[in-house]
Amino acid sequence: MIDIHTHILPGLDDGAPDWEQAIAMARAAAAEGITTIVATPHHANGVYHNEADVVKEAVARFNERMNTEGIPLTVVPGQEIRIHDDLLDAWGRGELLTLGDSRYILLEMPSSQIPSGIWDLLHELRLLGLTAIIAHPERNAEVNRHPERLAALIEAGAYAQVTTHSLLGGFGSRIEHAAWSLCRQGLIHIVSSDAHHVDRRGFRMQEAYQRVDQVLGSRIKEIFRQNATSIFYNGSIATVENGEKNGSIWRKISTIFRKC
Ligand SMILES: [Fe+2]
Repeated sequence: MIDIHTHILPGLDDGAPDWEQAIAMARAAAAEGITTIVATPHHANGVYHNEADVVKEAVARFNERMNTEGIPLTVVPGQEIRIHDDLLDAWGRGELLTLGDSRYILLEMPSSQIPSGIWDLLHELRLLGLTAIIAHPERNAEVNRHPERLAALIEAGAYAQVTTHSLLGGFGSRIEHAAWSLCRQGLIHIVSSDAHHVDRRGFRMQEAYQRVDQVLGSRIKEIFRQNATSIFYNGSIATVENGEKNGSIWRKISTIFRKC
């Protein structure tokens, strides 16, 4: 399994605070069958900056430690980048990272709203050959009120990642409901843990995929799993179109492989 959104690097943000916790997270990830992790420390969220060089160096140290400890886990660099006015200039200065050196870049919106500048940003990113993945839209209040606005962002070329804890009720019933609703509307493409700690906010990837299998079916689960792999290998992401308009959710499921 591949997990494209985690906070496993020790001491860089509000994820693992030290090596002991980071190694405990790594062991927990390996134990549930995760083989590859994209480390995505917060960038420009008002507290943490974690520029590209810092993350790359931390990832190199982390993989050395995985070898020393005998933990079968590979970590590649990334960032969870808060959408901010300086983002494109930061890219130009070489401060930003894509996910595992792919063309996919993980963007975080504030929890209250969709930033007004996101439309221009998506356009500019595409001109740079980058494709945005929106982190956990189920936790965004404006998306919850207006899911059609997330649909418009996807129409504009973005993809969306739901968090395992949201699907499993870890953030409460409102966010759980929102997460499944977005999935049913075909507005989610990837499941990731956004893991911060070994217990309180662990990985739960296996559990989440099992729940997706039960609720949405094995075909959707496989699409989500394959999409995480596709990101890692810089391939194309599959989208899911639902059949709600025809009165039968998932009856008219089809996959369209969008070349970006
Ligand atoms: Fe995160």
